[in-house]
Amino acid sequence: MGIVEEDVGSLVRSLNEQGISFEGQSVLVTGGAGFLGSWICDVLVKQGTHVICVDNFSSGRRKNIRHLRALENFRLVEHDVSQPIFFDEEIDVVMHLASRASPFEFARFPIQILKANTLGIWVALGIAKEHKARLVYTSSSEVYGDPDPKHVPTPETYRVMSILWVLGHVMTKRRELERLLSLHIGFSTGWIPES
Ligand SMILES: NC(=O)c1ccc[n+]([C@@H]2O[C@H](COP(=O)([O-])OP(=O)(O)OC[C@H]3O[C@@H](n4cnc5c(N)ncnc54)[C@H](O)[C@@H]3O)[C@@H](O)[C@H]2O)c1
Repeated sequence: MGIVEEDVGSLVRSLNEQGISFEGQSVLVTGGAGFLGSWICDVLVKQGTHVICVDNFSSGRRKNIRHLRALENFRLVEHDVSQPIFFDEEIDVVMHLASRASPFEFARFPIQILKANTLGIWVALGIAKEHKARLVYTSSSEVYGDPDPKHVPTPETYRVMSILWVLGHVMTKRRELERLLSLHIGFSTGWIPES
């Protein structure tokens, strides 16, 4: 047995001991070919979950999921999550990991990453709403800003910037963004953050 298989086995055992199992459920993993997403796909497939992996391979690697391709309970959909997508089958959980996570890529692909993190979460929320599924959203420690070193690693309770805060922040920056992108940005929410 290889190291990865051993690790996946031990993760599954540990989850089972904690009573956490997605066996028999259908889970959509966006960014499922990425670093974290592919581990999640591995564990879910091993638990007997039906896994739908959506990825555009912008930073994910085909080899991360190659061993899963032939399995009956795994399906790959090559797609950019910032574009709408619809599914006929049942979906119980949407795990949203489709976002390039490297600061080097933030500098090289700012607009694609902005789209994955705004339109992508909007698409993921739409799928979750349509299927009455739970949504698991992954983010990054960047949402905490620049915490005092005393608060690293940073607890979830630390000055949390919610998605609403981020959207609100984008709204206040709308004119700058419109100038930058040469287009008109419309938001349907009237929520404005305290600055
Ligand atoms: N790696 C970590 O240690 C870590 C820690 C905390 C949080 N996170 C968060 O978890 C998420 C995933 O991180 P990761 O390290 O696995 O990154 P990653 O770059 O390895 O994976 C991201 C995956 O999403 C895919 N993707 C990106 N944009 C897409 C789009 N528009 N449509 C479809 N697929 C798209 C990429 O191809 C890739 O497979 C990120 O939001 C990251 O901030 C990562």
